[in-house]
Amino acid sequence: MASTTDTGTLARQGSRNFNATSKCLHWLMAAIIVVAWGVGYYGGAMLHYGVSDGETAQKIWAITLHKSIATTTLFLIVGRIIWRAYNRPPELTDMPAIMKTATHLGHFLLYFLMVAVPLSGWWNSSSAGYAIPVAGLFTIPGLGGKNPELTPYLVLAHFYLSWALALVVAGHAAFALKHHFIDKDETLTAMLPKKD
Ligand code: HEM
Repeated sequence: MASTTDTGTLARQGSRNFNATSKCLHWLMAAIIVVAWGVGYYGGAMLHYGVSDGETAQKIWAITLHKSIATTTLFLIVGRIIWRAYNRPPELTDMPAIMKTATHLGHFLLYFLMVAVPLSGWWNSSSAGYAIPVAGLFTIPGLGGKNPELTPYLVLAHFYLSWALALVVAGHAAFALKHHFIDKDETLTAMLPKKD
Protein backbone atom coordinates (compact mmCIF):
# COMPACT_ATOMS: atom_id res chain seq x y z
CA MET A 1 0.00 0.00 0.00
CA ALA A 2 1.30 3.47 -0.85
CA SER A 3 2.29 5.61 2.13
CA THR A 4 0.79 9.09 2.65
CA THR A 5 3.93 10.61 1.18
CA ASP A 6 3.79 8.33 -1.86
CA THR A 7 0.13 9.14 -2.41
CA GLY A 8 0.85 12.84 -2.07
CA THR A 9 3.70 12.56 -4.53
CA LEU A 10 1.59 10.63 -7.01
CA ALA A 11 -1.24 13.11 -6.72
CA ARG A 12 1.17 15.97 -7.28
CA GLN A 13 2.86 14.19 -10.18
CA GLY A 14 -0.48 13.22 -11.68
CA SER A 15 -1.47 16.87 -11.88
CA ARG A 16 1.83 18.08 -13.29
CA ASN A 17 1.01 20.31 -16.23
CA PHE A 18 2.10 23.66 -17.60
CA ASN A 19 -0.59 26.02 -18.84
CA ALA A 20 -1.17 26.44 -22.60
CA THR A 21 0.59 29.83 -22.83
CA SER A 22 3.70 28.50 -21.07
CA LYS A 23 3.78 25.51 -23.45
CA CYS A 24 3.38 27.76 -26.52
CA LEU A 25 6.14 30.12 -25.37
CA HIS A 26 8.42 27.17 -24.53
CA TRP A 27 8.11 25.37 -27.89
CA LEU A 28 7.96 28.52 -30.02
CA MET A 29 11.17 29.85 -28.45
CA ALA A 30 12.81 26.41 -28.64
CA ALA A 31 12.08 26.23 -32.39
CA ILE A 32 13.25 29.80 -33.06
CA ILE A 33 16.46 29.32 -31.04
CA VAL A 34 17.35 26.09 -32.89
CA VAL A 35 16.75 27.67 -36.32
CA ALA A 36 18.50 30.96 -35.35
CA TRP A 37 21.46 28.97 -34.01
CA GLY A 38 21.78 26.93 -37.22
CA VAL A 39 21.52 29.95 -39.53
CA GLY A 40 23.90 31.94 -37.25
CA TYR A 41 26.44 29.12 -37.35
CA TYR A 42 26.15 28.87 -41.14
CA GLY A 43 26.57 32.64 -41.68
CA GLY A 44 28.98 33.35 -38.83
CA ALA A 45 31.31 30.36 -38.86
CA MET A 46 31.04 28.61 -42.23
CA LEU A 47 31.10 31.60 -44.58
CA HIS A 48 33.82 34.25 -44.76
CA TYR A 49 34.01 37.76 -46.18
CA GLY A 50 36.35 38.37 -49.12
CA VAL A 51 36.76 34.76 -50.32
CA SER A 52 34.57 35.47 -53.36
CA ASP A 53 31.75 37.87 -54.21
CA GLY A 54 29.32 34.94 -54.08
CA GLU A 55 30.40 33.87 -50.59
CA THR A 56 30.35 37.46 -49.29
CA ALA A 57 26.80 37.93 -50.62
CA GLN A 58 25.74 34.56 -49.14
CA LYS A 59 27.21 35.52 -45.74
CA ILE A 60 25.40 38.88 -45.71
CA TRP A 61 22.15 37.12 -46.66
CA ALA A 62 22.59 34.45 -43.94
CA ILE A 63 23.50 36.92 -41.17
CA THR A 64 20.62 39.24 -42.12
CA LEU A 65 18.26 36.25 -41.98
CA HIS A 66 19.82 35.14 -38.68
CA LYS A 67 19.26 38.56 -37.12
CA SER A 68 15.72 38.82 -38.45
CA ILE A 69 14.79 35.45 -36.90
CA ALA A 70 16.76 35.82 -33.65
CA THR A 71 15.62 39.34 -32.70
CA THR A 72 12.08 37.96 -32.21
CA THR A 73 13.42 36.14 -29.13
CA LEU A 74 14.14 39.53 -27.51
CA PHE A 75 10.41 40.26 -27.47
CA LEU A 76 9.40 36.71 -26.60
CA ILE A 77 11.78 36.42 -23.66
CA VAL A 78 10.40 39.62 -22.09
CA GLY A 79 6.86 38.22 -22.41
CA ARG A 80 8.00 34.86 -21.10
CA ILE A 81 9.71 36.25 -18.00
CA ILE A 82 6.65 38.37 -17.15
CA TRP A 83 4.34 35.39 -17.75
CA ARG A 84 6.47 33.14 -15.55
CA ALA A 85 6.50 35.70 -12.73
CA TYR A 86 2.71 35.45 -12.54
CA ASN A 87 2.36 31.75 -13.42
CA ARG A 88 4.48 29.53 -11.21
CA PRO A 89 5.53 26.28 -12.91
CA PRO A 90 4.31 22.98 -11.39
CA GLU A 91 6.48 21.52 -8.62
CA LEU A 92 9.40 19.34 -9.70
CA THR A 93 8.91 15.58 -9.49
CA ASP A 94 10.36 13.87 -6.41
CA MET A 95 14.15 13.84 -6.62
CA PRO A 96 17.11 14.30 -4.27
CA ALA A 97 17.63 17.89 -3.04
CA ILE A 98 20.90 18.17 -4.95
CA MET A 99 19.12 17.30 -8.22
CA LYS A 100 16.47 19.94 -7.49
CA THR A 101 19.19 22.53 -6.94
CA ALA A 102 20.91 21.47 -10.19
CA THR A 103 17.58 21.65 -12.05
CA HIS A 104 16.87 25.17 -10.76
CA LEU A 105 20.41 26.23 -11.66
CA GLY A 106 19.98 24.79 -15.18
CA HIS A 107 16.69 26.66 -15.65
CA PHE A 108 18.24 29.89 -14.36
CA LEU A 109 21.13 29.45 -16.84
CA LEU A 110 18.64 28.91 -19.68
CA TYR A 111 16.85 32.17 -18.85
CA PHE A 112 20.14 34.02 -18.43
CA LEU A 113 21.43 32.81 -21.82
CA MET A 114 18.09 33.43 -23.57
CA VAL A 115 18.60 37.08 -22.58
CA ALA A 116 22.41 37.33 -22.96
CA VAL A 117 22.72 35.66 -26.40
CA PRO A 118 20.34 37.94 -28.35
CA LEU A 119 21.56 41.00 -26.39
CA SER A 120 25.20 40.26 -27.30
CA GLY A 121 24.18 39.72 -30.97
CA TRP A 122 22.22 42.97 -30.99
CA TRP A 123 25.16 44.80 -29.41
CA ASN A 124 27.82 43.32 -31.76
CA SER A 125 25.79 44.18 -34.86
CA SER A 126 25.05 47.71 -33.55
CA SER A 127 28.70 48.34 -32.72
CA ALA A 128 29.56 47.56 -36.37
CA GLY A 129 26.86 50.01 -37.48
CA TYR A 130 24.53 47.47 -39.14
CA ALA A 131 20.74 47.58 -39.23
CA ILE A 132 18.84 45.25 -36.87
CA PRO A 133 15.84 43.69 -38.65
CA VAL A 134 13.01 41.96 -36.79
CA ALA A 135 11.13 39.18 -38.62
CA GLY A 136 11.60 41.07 -41.90
CA LEU A 137 8.98 43.56 -40.70
CA PHE A 138 10.79 46.48 -39.08
CA THR A 139 14.15 47.43 -37.62
CA ILE A 140 15.07 48.29 -34.05
CA PRO A 141 17.60 50.98 -33.04
CA GLY A 142 21.19 50.04 -32.38
CA LEU A 143 22.30 49.09 -28.88
CA GLY A 144 25.11 51.25 -27.50
CA GLY A 145 25.89 53.18 -30.71
CA LYS A 146 28.47 52.53 -33.45
CA ASN A 147 31.87 51.55 -32.08
CA PRO A 148 33.80 49.28 -34.52
CA GLU A 149 36.75 48.91 -32.11
CA LEU A 150 34.47 46.99 -29.78
CA THR A 151 33.02 44.73 -32.51
CA PRO A 152 35.63 41.90 -32.43
CA TYR A 153 35.20 41.50 -28.66
CA LEU A 154 31.42 41.52 -28.90
CA VAL A 155 31.49 38.99 -31.78
CA LEU A 156 33.61 36.75 -29.54
CA ALA A 157 31.22 37.22 -26.60
CA HIS A 158 28.27 36.31 -28.85
CA PHE A 159 30.16 33.25 -30.12
CA TYR A 160 30.93 31.91 -26.60
CA LEU A 161 27.46 32.70 -25.25
CA SER A 162 25.76 31.02 -28.22
CA TRP A 163 27.86 27.88 -27.67
CA ALA A 164 27.06 27.96 -23.94
CA LEU A 165 23.37 28.17 -24.85
CA ALA A 166 23.74 25.20 -27.23
CA LEU A 167 25.34 23.10 -24.46
CA VAL A 168 22.74 24.02 -21.83
CA VAL A 169 19.86 23.39 -24.28
CA ALA A 170 21.37 20.00 -25.20
CA GLY A 171 21.70 19.08 -21.50
CA HIS A 172 18.14 20.29 -20.82
CA ALA A 173 16.76 18.12 -23.66
CA ALA A 174 18.85 15.11 -22.58
CA PHE A 175 17.51 15.32 -19.00
CA ALA A 176 13.92 15.69 -20.26
CA LEU A 177 14.37 12.49 -22.31
CA LYS A 178 15.96 10.70 -19.34
CA HIS A 179 12.94 11.61 -17.18
CA HIS A 180 10.61 10.30 -19.86
CA PHE A 181 12.30 7.08 -20.93
CA ILE A 182 14.31 6.03 -17.87
CA ASP A 183 12.53 7.53 -14.82
CA LYS A 184 9.16 7.28 -16.64
CA ASP A 185 7.78 10.34 -14.82
CA GLU A 186 5.71 13.30 -16.04
CA THR A 187 8.50 15.85 -16.46
CA LEU A 188 8.35 15.84 -20.29
CA THR A 189 4.62 15.21 -20.74
CA ALA A 190 3.86 18.20 -18.46
CA MET A 191 5.24 20.39 -21.27
CA LEU A 192 3.42 18.56 -24.11
CA PRO A 193 -0.12 19.22 -25.39
CA LYS A 194 -2.65 17.27 -23.28
CA LYS A 195 -5.60 15.40 -24.80
CA ASP A 196 -7.90 16.03 -21.79
C1 HEM B 1 18.40 33.22 -29.93
C2 HEM B 1 19.27 34.13 -30.22
C3 HEM B 1 20.56 33.88 -30.96
C4 HEM B 1 21.27 32.72 -31.17
C5 HEM B 1 20.95 31.32 -30.65
C6 HEM B 1 22.45 33.08 -31.95
C7 HEM B 1 23.43 32.19 -32.36
C8 HEM B 1 24.51 32.53 -33.18
C9 HEM B 1 25.52 31.61 -33.62
C10 HEM B 1 25.60 30.13 -33.27
C11 HEM B 1 26.41 32.31 -34.37
C12 HEM B 1 27.67 31.76 -35.02
C13 HEM B 1 28.85 31.96 -34.09
C14 HEM B 1 30.08 31.40 -34.75
O1 HEM B 1 30.29 30.17 -34.67
O2 HEM B 1 30.84 32.18 -35.34
C15 HEM B 1 25.95 33.67 -34.45
C16 HEM B 1 26.57 34.68 -35.17
C17 HEM B 1 26.08 35.97 -35.30
N1 HEM B 1 24.97 36.49 -34.68
FE1 HEM B 1 23.70 35.49 -33.45
N2 HEM B 1 22.42 34.42 -32.21
C18 HEM B 1 21.27 34.95 -31.65
C19 HEM B 1 20.86 36.27 -31.70
C20 HEM B 1 21.41 37.27 -32.46
C21 HEM B 1 20.89 38.61 -32.60
C22 HEM B 1 19.62 39.12 -31.92
C23 HEM B 1 21.74 39.29 -33.43
C24 HEM B 1 21.69 40.71 -33.91
C25 HEM B 1 20.64 41.46 -33.86
C26 HEM B 1 22.80 38.37 -33.81
C27 HEM B 1 23.86 38.68 -34.64
C28 HEM B 1 24.84 37.81 -35.05
C29 HEM B 1 25.93 38.17 -35.93
C30 HEM B 1 26.18 39.53 -36.58
C31 HEM B 1 26.71 37.01 -36.09
C32 HEM B 1 27.97 36.83 -36.94
C33 HEM B 1 29.19 37.18 -36.13
C34 HEM B 1 30.38 37.08 -37.06
O3 HEM B 1 30.67 38.06 -37.71
O4 HEM B 1 30.98 35.99 -37.11
N3 HEM B 1 22.57 37.16 -33.21
N4 HEM B 1 24.81 33.77 -33.70
